[in-house]
Amino acid sequence: MEQATALVSFDVQRVREDFPILSRTVNGKPLVYLDNGATTQKPKQVVDAIQAYYTDINSNIHRGVHHLSQLATDAYEITRRKVREFINAGHEHEVILTPGTTHGINLVASCYGKAFVKPGDEIIISAMEHHSNIVPWHMLCEDRGAVLRIIPVTEEGELDMETYRSLLNERTKLVAVTYVSNALGTINPVKELIALAHRADVPVLLDAAQAIQHLPIDVQALDVDFLVFSGHKMYGPTGVGVLYGKEKYLEAMPPYQGGGDMIKEVTLTKTVYNDLPFKFEAGTPNIEAGICLADAIDYLNEIGLDRILAYEHDLLEYATERMLEIPGLRIIGTAKEKSSVISFLVEGTHPYDVGVILDKLGIAIRTGHHCAQPLMDHYGIPGTARASLAMYNTVEEIDALVAGIARAQAMLV
Ligand SMILES: Cc1ncc(COP(=O)(O)O)c(C=O)c1O
Repeated sequence: MEQATALVSFDVQRVREDFPILSRTVNGKPLVYLDNGATTQKPKQVVDAIQAYYTDINSNIHRGVHHLSQLATDAYEITRRKVREFINAGHEHEVILTPGTTHGINLVASCYGKAFVKPGDEIIISAMEHHSNIVPWHMLCEDRGAVLRIIPVTEEGELDMETYRSLLNERTKLVAVTYVSNALGTINPVKELIALAHRADVPVLLDAAQAIQHLPIDVQALDVDFLVFSGHKMYGPTGVGVLYGKEKYLEAMPPYQGGGDMIKEVTLTKTVYNDLPFKFEAGTPNIEAGICLADAIDYLNEIGLDRILAYEHDLLEYATERMLEIPGLRIIGTAKEKSSVISFLVEGTHPYDVGVILDKLGIAIRTGHHCAQPLMDHYGIPGTARASLAMYNTVEEIDALVAGIARAQAMLV
């Protein structure tokens, strides 16, 4: 097969040198890491920064006059600035640093819910959401007597936009959808989705957990109202994430948790809340993760998301073609616009067994429902095997995956 341009022009070997874990072996075989949707590996720039934090500046932030505290605070606030630039937010105070995507969605469900959602109001999500973007809305609906409406998914794994249009009405209070499906790879038409919601005067939350590491995102160009993502899926540390929110909504929402940092003044009878963004950042955060998220952003900027997108796109096409050469292999999720996720089933085998055999060959994939049980119900399957690709994966690794699946098939069928 002739190799597409980006597969040739992107210096993947050079990128791989930044990820020491990629040269280890698993079960005596070179590691082939294809579970990037769950979490990405970290470049040494990020690992070194974590070590440097503890070696040089470890201290609590935002409340110390001493030197180390000021260094740590400055470093933490540099991350906020870099996140603002990375997603082109209008203001730094619209960037809330959270423990991750799940926390961000729960925060919006709880606080936006308290401020804006009344009995009989409606929230729209889709049938392809991760449980993190379903359960908080179930909880909100239970709490506020609201109703959840669902955008159906087509057989190819795309959103049914006609039904979406018909769901928007004067009772709709929020639309919360994923930018990229973790289980199918579908890239949703978010610009259109947001424009339609805004025409009905409805704000939109985008779950960008599977988008931020693959696509350039400009929150002002999208005009999105809330955007959430996790550091650990974008080559950064675990324990930090981002909630971007438009000032007008964040100002109108009550705080999520009470505690240190989110206050201006406390007496024994009352609390005056702090300004944005601190109003939503109670307690000591994961400081080193917060600081070192900036190193992950620097790394992504250095490689360039446009180049990453082109390379991963061509790698996905190569992988899709090669995998479809295996008789009995079916890909779940065949949307026209796809990110680098391939969910698949091999006739006559259980995904778990395929995953275990691949692991023996050093190949890490994920099997199961991918925290998207309603989506699996839609396809009438208990789960899939999923290979999710990152910028450091190679054509040779795809070949190893294809050979591994064929071997598993020979053993199991
Ligand atoms: C689309 C999507 N949303 C939300 C999450 C939850 O992310 P986290 O566990 O980092 O909070 C994930 C994680 O896989 C995801 O893929």
